[in-house]
Amino acid sequence: MNKTKIILDCDPGHDDAIAIMLAAKNPAIDLLGITVVAGNQTLEKTTVNALNVCQYLGLDVPVYKGCGQPMIRENQLIAADIHGESGLDGPVFAPLTKQMESKHAVLYMVDTLLASDGDITVVTTGPMTNLAMAMRLCPDIVPKIKEIVLMGGSYQLGNMTPAAEFNILVDADAAHVAFTSGRMLTMVGLDVTRKVLCLPSVMERMEKHQNSAGKLFVDLMRFFNMTQKEVFGWAGGPLHDPVTIAYLIDPTVLTTKTCFTQIDIRSEQSYGRTNCDIFNIFKKTPNSHVAVDIDVAKFWNIIETGILAYR
Ligand code: RIB
Ligand code: CA
Repeated sequence: MNKTKIILDCDPGHDDAIAIMLAAKNPAIDLLGITVVAGNQTLEKTTVNALNVCQYLGLDVPVYKGCGQPMIRENQLIAADIHGESGLDGPVFAPLTKQMESKHAVLYMVDTLLASDGDITVVTTGPMTNLAMAMRLCPDIVPKIKEIVLMGGSYQLGNMTPAAEFNILVDADAAHVAFTSGRMLTMVGLDVTRKVLCLPSVMERMEKHQNSAGKLFVDLMRFFNMTQKEVFGWAGGPLHDPVTIAYLIDPTVLTTKTCFTQIDIRSEQSYGRTNCDIFNIFKKTPNSHVAVDIDVAKFWNIIETGILAYR
């Protein structure tokens, strides 16, 4: 089977952690490296969290520390109300011995993409700062990216404001750079991730698997479900980030609409909104495949298979 080579850029984050778990052992995916960005928590914390997840699961995947703040915005938004003080509250990790790589994440992206045969997919599940900075630093990487798949945005309602989703809002300028780069992006937004709620029935199903991945899934999602209920009233936490990986494992898990998407970096009220021209009103050249539906049963089967891939 031809593996899809990916760089996973993330801000662990409970759902990012499960995206790492799913990507690292699936036979369809070759996880080349993990690059970390500030988002759910500060960069120091998201980097430690990525290292802890890799160490806990026994993953020999290099981790690169990236950008600690948005390209332009001053105030650094975080999501401690959802992910806790550590950014990964819930699981208890052993003393951390895994080291991050010395190279900056942006330079790792540039070097790796430039040296590639144009066969690397970049997946972002946090603010898009690292990818946008890499594009600005070295525009020659843009044609070398096979595909960009992001968790972010929504063509309907946001989660940080009525208009904007967290990953885009934190660094809307970075998202603007990516969406105007000339590459098509597959946008996995809240519209579909809010359909994969980690309900009690899902927890019971995954709890049966008492291996490392099963235990980590349950420890992570117990905390995530609690905060998602407190903040949004969800009966189960929406498992946002792993949907990007599930799509790469089996593209039929998503239904997408190809359209022109523009990031609102101008207005006050709707700043950070992904304006997806689903009805092609502007007649502009499409730049995105926007996820409009998800096969929920297929998704949870992919998650369970991902857990079973671990000893
Ligand atoms: O809005 C949800 C997204 O923001 C997810 O990627 C979550 O991890 C946070 O980064
Ligand atoms: Ca994330």
